[in-house]
Amino acid sequence: MSESGIESVLTENRSFEAPAAFAKAARVKSLGEYEALYRRADEDPDGYWSEVASELHWHAPWSSLRSGVFPDCTWFDGGETNLAFNCLDAQIAKGLGDKTAILFEGEPGDQQSISFSELRAKVCQCANALLDLGVAKGDRVAIYMPMIPEAAIAMLACARIGAVHSVVFGGFSAGALADRILDAGIETVITADGGWRRGSVLELKKNVDDALVTAPVKRVLVVKRCANPVSWQEGRDHWWHDRVDAASSEHQAPALEAEHPLFILYTSGTTGKPKGIVHTTGGYMVGAYQSTKLVFDLKDDDIFWCTADVGWITGHSYVVYGALLNGTTTLVYEGAPNHPQPDRFWELIAKHKATILYTAPTAIRAFMRWGDEWPNKHDLSSLRLLGTVGEPINPSAWMWYREVIGGERCPIVDTWWQTETGSIMLSPLPGAIATKPGSCTRPLPGVSAKIVDKQGVECAANVGGFLVIDKPWPSMLRTINGDHDRFVQTYFGEIEGKYFAGDGARRDPDGYFWVMGRVDDVINVSGHRLSTMEVESALVSHPKVAEAAVVAKPDELKGQAIVAFVTPMKGEKGSSALSAELRQHVVTQIGALARPEEIHFADALPKTRSGKIMRRLLRDLASGNTTAGDVSTLEDASILTTLAAQYGDEE
Ligand code: WTA
Repeated sequence: MSESGIESVLTENRSFEAPAAFAKAARVKSLGEYEALYRRADEDPDGYWSEVASELHWHAPWSSLRSGVFPDCTWFDGGETNLAFNCLDAQIAKGLGDKTAILFEGEPGDQQSISFSELRAKVCQCANALLDLGVAKGDRVAIYMPMIPEAAIAMLACARIGAVHSVVFGGFSAGALADRILDAGIETVITADGGWRRGSVLELKKNVDDALVTAPVKRVLVVKRCANPVSWQEGRDHWWHDRVDAASSEHQAPALEAEHPLFILYTSGTTGKPKGIVHTTGGYMVGAYQSTKLVFDLKDDDIFWCTADVGWITGHSYVVYGALLNGTTTLVYEGAPNHPQPDRFWELIAKHKATILYTAPTAIRAFMRWGDEWPNKHDLSSLRLLGTVGEPINPSAWMWYREVIGGERCPIVDTWWQTETGSIMLSPLPGAIATKPGSCTRPLPGVSAKIVDKQGVECAANVGGFLVIDKPWPSMLRTINGDHDRFVQTYFGEIEGKYFAGDGARRDPDGYFWVMGRVDDVINVSGHRLSTMEVESALVSHPKVAEAAVVAKPDELKGQAIVAFVTPMKGEKGSSALSAELRQHVVTQIGALARPEEIHFADALPKTRSGKIMRRLLRDLASGNTTAGDVSTLEDASILTTLAAQYGDEE
């Protein structure tokens, strides 16, 4: 068990009620109200979800709320809607035209405040420009952008015309971008010349050019952000300011079928290349809308800051769609949290009077390490609610967040969900559910979560098992792009009749869920999902590597760190120079987020008699959990062989 797991066990009896004033003003004000709402949604899911969906605009009503059973479920069949219309036109129709939709600050300090009316105009311009360029409904568009308003505008423009976007995190390499372009059948890339990161330019257009060598597309639309020199291919490359700014700001949002694909977002699984998770329009919209409203208990004057990049699902559902669907002002910041100084976040909160901060435990641990003096310099009294996402939070980081950032007055919502679930599944409703540091507490209304054993039988209190969802929900993934069998196998093949995507958890006697982390070969580095296989493939693609095995070890700051065991090719020797070369190779193949923390060379890797690498043994060695102790002894292959023999070959 990881250190944070042990900590959770020790502190689980601490519990914090929502402050009375918070509860009084909340949508769901008490545990009783939550339980009644939960029961209602559970007993009558059709009634519950149809009420929620009716709060949104439908161009045509659905004829059937929900059809099919796992794995093939559809929602709102026969219904037609438009997500961008709901984010923009519907808000303007409610009188919010002049309200700020996006509050933006670039890393260099440039600011923009874009109202819902202005945002609609920009989205319509972008939609018209895309149509002019030949992008049609159903076409796939990659968005590879810094965190600037144009990223959200491009997403909304695609959603508006029914083009399927696939946002690729700007930290991914040209190689990773090329893989995604090919897998998704991308014909159009929207990017920028660069983005600002710690005072330097992240050269996005250059990466696109490199990716297009192996993965050509028809057109590239480029935002000028940093004015760095870029190379240009006439006919293929187009400046955003030429195309979008010149386009009409009028565009009638077409009615799209509820099950029309909305986006593909790649995420890592246990095997093979990243999977393109497919979400569809109606169900995703309803999930993003309702979860944002309930979990963040939104108020009209909220300034909501979700610090995730739009390259991740959290950026999709909470920076862009969930916030705008609720008519909420969303704060977008381009750069690093410690640029120019470690108080950039706190300065932003004080300056823009952010009321909700939603960030990752890794960031919180980094802030803790940088010291209280940085937040203490700023007035954080505008904050009323804090959230975390992406990885388990250790109770000491939770307590620090509560005390130093939240001034002990802000409830914390620890939200568990996944790229596949589309929206938050487990989280406190902040006015209703008392929080416990390290627990994501209870499922949202409409979410049927259980902890079961391999046979699908529910575990007793405090007994660890697999976290599953056993009833369909609107924002569930519909398939894996191009591989429906893999979708069925991956999510519904492990535990019969239930959705299971890799997390182990337990429930305490109060019914609170404690997510312990992945039980598969997915690792979580700073809240970013990677598979050990992906990093292994990157390593073995290097000519000097014969074999590689990758495992995670607990890391105080990042949650987990990547440790690689590498057998060099015959004639090659492990050295610190080769180690540096391999680390750089992984960065080039995947991106800096996958750079191994440690590389150990060994003449052979421990294997079972059937030839499977004994990962459990390597994991234990990397974490210092075995009597083998010192990892440096791994350099001696005979020790590995001996250890392998001790462990037998059951793995
Ligand atoms: C982990 C991110 C503990 C989990 C939204 C899950 C969490 C994976 C939490 C999904 C949490 C996410 N507590 N673990 N509150 N939230 N995780 O697809 O292992 O990038 O399976 O989605 O992150 O990562 P993904």
